[in-house]
Amino acid sequence: MQVISSEDTTPKAQNIVWHKASVDRLARSERSGHQSTILWFTGLSGSGKSTLANAVNAALFERGFATYLLDGDNIRHGLCKDLGFSDSDREENIRRIGEVAKLFLDAGVIVLTAFVSPFRADRAKARQLVAEGDFLEIYCSADLKVCEARDTKGLYAKARAGEIKHFTGISSPYEEPEEPELRIDTGLDDLGKCVEIVLMELIERKIIS
Ligand code: ADX
Repeated sequence: MQVISSEDTTPKAQNIVWHKASVDRLARSERSGHQSTILWFTGLSGSGKSTLANAVNAALFERGFATYLLDGDNIRHGLCKDLGFSDSDREENIRRIGEVAKLFLDAGVIVLTAFVSPFRADRAKARQLVAEGDFLEIYCSADLKVCEARDTKGLYAKARAGEIKHFTGISSPYEEPEEPELRIDTGLDDLGKCVEIVLMELIERKIIS
């Protein structure tokens, strides 16, 4: 499978030489009995990304699969604590998460990412870091009205009041995925049903059995 490089792949450092590890992804999947993949959840704040990703993560874990969940709000407490919500900071946020997800993929883990990731170009770059079929984009498509009505964190109210600038869906755009591998409306289906849809997709793609 051909891996397409992202635009800016040239490292700043020179005189660095790639070292190939003798334990590779194939060896890991042979031992664990399952494939690794990236499940990239995207959608507005309050669209149910974190809830669904967390429930899928738990369902996979219970079945004995190696999994890890990278969640936007959590990652912004550590790896990305230097980033805000300008377009360029979001781009860097998603670039880092794309790279981290790629490491988990190589480690044989089913990695789930739950980031707003509002820009098509940034998601496309994350996708292009890995081979075709290794990146499954899952669009949590709940309507802005539904997300705003839920307002679980009270952020939409603050954004409407002008207390939060560049808030996705209010004062910063969300670019819908054009061809996501899955589109799930958490406003329509209950959580159990949404989890089942994701698990069925993984079975169909022979990532798990
Ligand atoms: S992303 O745009 O860079 O992908 P990320 O998923 O890491 O965003 O973080 C989004 C979370 O940060 C939201 O779920 C929300 O809780 C919080 N947040 C705070 N400010 C904003 C904002 N301006 N726009 C969107 N989300 C925000």
